[in-house]
Amino acid sequence: MYDPIFWQLLDIRDPEVISLGLGEPIFNVPDPVKEGVIEAIKSDFTHYTSTRGIPELREAIAEKLKAENFIDVSPDNIIVTCGTSEALFYSVMAVVNPGDEVILPDPCYVSYPPYVAFSGGKVVYVGLNEDKGFSIDLESIKEKITDRTKAIIVNFPSNPTGAVLSKDDARGLAEVADDYGVVVISDEIYEGITYEERSYSPAAFSDNVVTVNGFSKAFAMTGLRIGYVAVKNEEILKGILRLHQYSMICASSISQKAAYYALRYSNDSVKWIVEEFRKRRDLIVNGLNKLGFKCPKPKGAFYVFPKIPDWGLSSTEFVVKMFKEAKVAAVPGIAFGEHGEGHVRFSYSNTIENIKQALDRLEGFIANNYALQRGAKAKTS
Ligand SMILES: Cc1ncc(COP(=O)(O)O)c(C=O)c1O
Repeated sequence: MYDPIFWQLLDIRDPEVISLGLGEPIFNVPDPVKEGVIEAIKSDFTHYTSTRGIPELREAIAEKLKAENFIDVSPDNIIVTCGTSEALFYSVMAVVNPGDEVILPDPCYVSYPPYVAFSGGKVVYVGLNEDKGFSIDLESIKEKITDRTKAIIVNFPSNPTGAVLSKDDARGLAEVADDYGVVVISDEIYEGITYEERSYSPAAFSDNVVTVNGFSKAFAMTGLRIGYVAVKNEEILKGILRLHQYSMICASSISQKAAYYALRYSNDSVKWIVEEFRKRRDLIVNGLNKLGFKCPKPKGAFYVFPKIPDWGLSSTEFVVKMFKEAKVAAVPGIAFGEHGEGHVRFSYSNTIENIKQALDRLEGFIANNYALQRGAKAKTS
C-alpha cells in the first residue's frame, strides 16, 4: 500500500527538481480578485461575517449554479466555507454516522478516505475502468449498495484522472441517489477547467445531492481558502452549518469579498487559464505517448494519469527512481487507490519550458534504463 512517508525520503527542496506533482495552478489570482482583496482591506471589511457567508456572495453563487450547472438552489441553502476541503469534510461528517458505508471511486482524491474515517464510516471502493476512461460505472455502484450505504462521493472533473461526468451519467447517478436513498456528495472543484467537453452536476437531476465547489482551481485562489456547499436537504444543511459555526465561525471576510469579485468580474481570466492549461495538456500528452506511456487526453482538471510502461516497477518505485535519476517529481498512482497502481499522476500546472525539460529528462532516463530492454523486446516480437 502507498506510504505517504515516502515523500519525506525525497528532497523536494532540491532546486534542480522539476515538480510535476503540484496540485494547484501555477497562475496568480486574476486582477479583479486582487482588487476585491484590496477593496476589503481599504473598507475595513475585516470582521466576522454571518456564519453562512455574505449575502452578495451567496446570491452570486446561487446565480452561477442556476445558469451554469442547472441547479436551482436558494442562497439560504448555500454555506461559504474555508476552501472546498472544509465543505467536503463537514458534508461527510453531517451525512455519515459511525458504521455507515460510503462508496468511493478507486482511484479517487487522497482526502476522501480520511474524511470517511474521521466520521467513523467504512469505505467501500468501486474500481474505475481505465479502458472506459475512468468514467463512473453505475451498475458497479448499485452492486455495492447495502442497507448501511449512506453516501457516494464523486469528483468530476477528476483528480487524478481528468475524467468528466457526462449528462447521462449525472442523471444516472441522481437516479441511484433517489432510488436507493443515498446521498451523493459531488466535489466539483475542477469544474471550471474543462476542454472539449463539459462536466455535468448530479444536483441538476436530484435533491439528494450535496454539491461542493470552490475558488482554488479555476480562479487560482488556493491560498485564500474559500469554497462552498450547496444542499437542499435541510437536515444536512443544518448539520454542516453547526459544524462550520462552532469550528470556523465564518470564512475569511477578505476571501469572501475576493470570491465575489471572482464570480462577478473574472470570467475572462478563467478562459485564459483554461487555454494556458490546454497548451500544457497537449504538450505533455504528446510527449508521454512518444516516450511509450499510454496517456489518453484528459477532458478536465490539470493532471494526466498515464500507464507506466511495463518495466517491472510499482508506481512508487517508478516515481522514486524517476525523482532520483531524472529529478522529476510526480505522484504514484497507488496514492489514489489500488486501481491507480501501474499509473503515475503528472500535473501539467507548470511552465511550458519546465514541462519540455521534464520530458527531455524522462527521455534520457528511459534511454539509460530501458532502451536495451525495449530493443531486446523488439527483436523477439
Ligand atoms: C478533488 C479535490 N477536491 C478538493 C480539493 C481541495 O480544494 P480546496 O483548496 O478548495 O480546499 C482538492 C485540492 O487539490 C482536490 O484535488
